[in-house]
Amino acid sequence: MFKYSQAEKIKYLLSLISFSFIFVTALPNTYLLQIADTNKVQPKDTLSRQLSDSVIYKKENFSSEELIRGERLFYGLVYLGDKSINCEACHNTHVSDTLNWNPDALEISRKYLDKNAYYLSKVLLKPLGTKMKQVHKGFQLTVQDIVLIKAYMNKFVGIGLKKNKPIITNLLLLIIASFLFLLSSVDIVIRKVYKSQRINWAILTVMGIVITWILAVNAISFGRAKGYSPAQPIKFSHAVHAGQNKTDCNYCHYTARSSKTAGIPPASICLNCHFLVRNGTRSGATEIAKVLKAYDDKKPVEWVRIYKLPDFVFFSHEQHVSAGEITCDACHGNVKEMNRLYQVPDLSMGWCINCHKTRKVNLSNEYYKTYYSDYYESFKAGKIDSVVIAGIGGRDCGKCHY
Ligand code: HEC
Ligand code: HEC
Ligand code: HEC
Ligand code: HEC
Ligand code: HEC
Ligand code: HEC
Repeated sequence: MFKYSQAEKIKYLLSLISFSFIFVTALPNTYLLQIADTNKVQPKDTLSRQLSDSVIYKKENFSSEELIRGERLFYGLVYLGDKSINCEACHNTHVSDTLNWNPDALEISRKYLDKNAYYLSKVLLKPLGTKMKQVHKGFQLTVQDIVLIKAYMNKFVGIGLKKNKPIITNLLLLIIASFLFLLSSVDIVIRKVYKSQRINWAILTVMGIVITWILAVNAISFGRAKGYSPAQPIKFSHAVHAGQNKTDCNYCHYTARSSKTAGIPPASICLNCHFLVRNGTRSGATEIAKVLKAYDDKKPVEWVRIYKLPDFVFFSHEQHVSAGEITCDACHGNVKEMNRLYQVPDLSMGWCINCHKTRKVNLSNEYYKTYYSDYYESFKAGKIDSVVIAGIGGRDCGKCHY
């Protein structure tokens, strides 16, 4: 059937591999919206700061050209003096995996969905609020422009934020590896295209290793989430609070020292300060307004849980923080520097045991004087110089597993 020479076969294989990699790297980018409008246009004569209650504000039906023009305005044909600025530069249109202090495009679109374009023109042309005054400064937009931007923003509520990177890299690699593996196996067993079977065995070995590796890595990390950093409903920053403002961890996580869980603070704790502080340097009024709203509506903020052990594991903060004298950062990393919090350790059993095997307990702590008095006496008498946690049961299965 196929009479390829060996050299041709190798070439074919190499191009298949390189094509696959191009595919893997290029695919995510096709998700991006392409807006090729780099034409530099001179600033036009605008009816700057026009705010009269124009009838245009009430326009409701738009042609497709008008919608496209609204989209263009949103993405970059907005004039600030002779510079072209765009709303997207600040109002992210993609799902972001880092913290972006500005409200995203979906958020602002939702907020103004049921409002008339007049309200949008106020916030663009006559901004109030310390942050808003800085960021929405000197926009030269006509009433028509604003109405069109608003029309596009409404459409946005239906589209949602664009996703940047679907997590298919590993899966695709697995499929390619399996395919090559199969190809070589079939050739060895049935077709025998190659005189020398060495190349097939080489492919089999390499792909076998790749497949095993991918499966093993995924199986081990199944259910674990090192580095996990979900977007939170409010852009709360530990760097701002625990770092810059030096608020003690225990002020907010006030049950850490005395109970099993550290707990997430209710909005009333935030209100202790935010009753007065209504404007953030980075996010303006938007984020803090959410805290105030949650408090007024008596609806708890739906924070997304990050650190989570499986149900069959017992863990107590009190035991570690109070008795064990372990600091928060030993387990949670340098939280004081994190804007968006992420999981630092992998929370595997090995992680717990490693510390228990090596860390010495402070025997002169009241807790040990009371509960492990014999160890304390031997320690005082100089018979032992230290006890690791494993020595007092830190490796007993029953201590961590019910
Ligand atoms: C002003 C209040 C406040 C202070 C101070 C504070 N936190 Fe938090 N912490 C929160 C809030 C709110 C959340 C939930 C939002 C989030 O995960 O970012 C949280 C979440 C966490 C989480 C993740 C919880 C989960 O979902 O698994 C950890 C870990 C944590 N904080 C540790 C610390 C440490 C360590 C400090 C001190 C360096 C600290 N926090 C100081 C309010 C605070
Ligand atoms: C001990 C006082 C205090 C507490 C408690 C507190 N904050 Fe703050 N927070 C501040 C201060 C001060 C700022 C302003 C920081 C700045 O602008 O640099 C701030 C800023 C913020 C910002 C805006 C950050 C920025 O720069 O734009 C958000 C959002 C925020 N806090 C949310 C919360 C939430 C949610 C809670 C409750 C879990 C909370 N804060 C509890 C003092 C506090
Ligand atoms: C330089 C960055 C920047 C640019 C450019 C920008 N914005 Fe904003 N915008 C912000 C910030 C920051 C806030 C939140 C300020 C606050 O809450 O105090 C905001 C808030 C908003 C809001 C919400 C107002 C509210 O009531 O909470 C809307 C709507 C908005 N922007 C629309 C636009 C549109 C439309 C454009 C393009 C013409 C645009 N923005 C360009 C930074 C920007
Ligand atoms: C010995 C390691 C360790 C230390 C020390 C530690 N934590 Fe934790 N923390 C964990 C683990 C493990 C979890 C997950 C617990 C679970 O899922 O049951 C967790 C969960 C949390 C949570 C999520 C909510 C909860 O209570 O489960 C917060 C908030 C938190 N820790 C804050 C703190 C703060 C603040 C300190 C310091 C006072 C601290 N932690 C010290 C290991 C630790
Ligand atoms: C950074 C070090 C460290 C890590 C990580 C750590 N521990 Fe501990 N653990 C300690 C210390 C110190 C003690 C001693 C406190 C005591 O004597 O009760 C302790 C004690 C315990 C105890 C009580 C043992 C006893 O003798 O009663 C349990 C249960 C426990 N840890 C569970 C866990 C689990 C589950 C994890 C992982 C999710 C974990 N620990 C991770 C330091 C650590
Ligand atoms: C210091 C606490 C600690 C001790 C002691 C401990 N484990 Fe675990 N174990 C854990 C944690 C935490 C996990 C969850 C790991 C994960 O989610 O990957 C776990 C998971 C497991 C699992 C499930 C494996 C998995 O990956 O889901 C088994 C089985 C297990 N432990 C058995 C034991 C046995 C048997 C012992 C006694 C020799 C023991 N454990 C002692 C903390 C402990």
